Amino acid sequence: MTQGAQYSTLSPALAVGDDEPDRNLALELVRVTEAAAIAGGHWVGFGDKNAADGAAVDAMRSLLSTVHFNGVVVIGEGEKDEAPMLYNGEKVGDGSGPEVDVAVDPIDGTRLTALGYDNALAVLAVAERGSMFDPSAVFYMEKLVTGPEAADMVDLRLPVKQNLHLIAKAKGKKINQLSVAVLDRDRHKPLIQEIRDAGARTRMIMDGDVAGAIAAAREGTGVDALMGVGGTPEGIVTACAIKATGGVIQGRLWPTSDEEKQKAIDAGHDLDRVLSTDDLVTSDNCYFAATGITNGDLLRGVRYQGQKVLTQSIVMRSKSGTIRVVSGEHQSHKWESYARLK
Ligand code: FBP
Repeated sequence: MTQGAQYSTLSPALAVGDDEPDRNLALELVRVTEAAAIAGGHWVGFGDKNAADGAAVDAMRSLLSTVHFNGVVVIGEGEKDEAPMLYNGEKVGDGSGPEVDVAVDPIDGTRLTALGYDNALAVLAVAERGSMFDPSAVFYMEKLVTGPEAADMVDLRLPVKQNLHLIAKAKGKKINQLSVAVLDRDRHKPLIQEIRDAGARTRMIMDGDVAGAIAAAREGTGVDALMGVGGTPEGIVTACAIKATGGVIQGRLWPTSDEEKQKAIDAGHDLDRVLSTDDLVTSDNCYFAATGITNGDLLRGVRYQGQKVLTQSIVMRSKSGTIRVVSGEHQSHKWESYARLK
């Protein structure tokens, strides 16, 4: 059978119209996260998170301009620490092709990158235009993430102990075999105590709750759940991945000031509402790509071998549920034109 004939047998459920993002987009997106990871990777361990972020942003922006879509950045990065930005509202892509929402996180884990710790990723998510949640400037969200086994059972409104028992039961594990990823923050002290009192283990992460969340949703990573408060943008990006991996992310906006709270209420948000994966990204035609900058539970980081730079990426397409882990070998001298390198 020729390749063309094979494609024509694609099930109608997986086929898309010309104006919708198609499956070839997945591999185009990997090029973008590879570029960001390679550029950011040059700064691993040099203690300068803004330089790392700047290099990754430049590389991501440059490669994004070649992607065949008409994209608008709806989840940008940088506001939190005034790092260089791919800003919200920025148009990206070559301007042709499908209209899409784009969520960028050129480095999830800028501090991890600067200090040389594990779990920093370059991340990109794409979904049909208008389908990504607008958090209206509420930076933080409470999150509960777990894999497909317990996806229909857990509920953010239940006590931590009860959710952990449901996850253990669904996974056929003892509670003391469960490992829960939690960002290492003072705000999580009570949560950490609750997890340990329930008899489960914590897997403390310094930063990077996208990697932590996806590890929680995927089998074989040793992480069974992610709990706690992290970035809302990272939660929306995570939802795009969860649509392909299966599993669940539940979120509840967590404003940190009266002003933020008021903005959210004025924008029509119900702050008690538990947002589901489908609320965070309504489209079932979404894409997630990430490349490791430093090693982690999910991916290996950028490595150097002679004149080559080696990368490992993951790319997912929700419509087909296809997940690919992609190894890249890149000629280092060719990358110098793309980004500010150390
Ligand atoms: P940055 O790399 O953009 O700094 O984000 C890292 C991160 O750990 C995210 O993964 C997480 O969602 C968020 O920061 C948590 O915010 P905070 O560091 O303020 O607790």
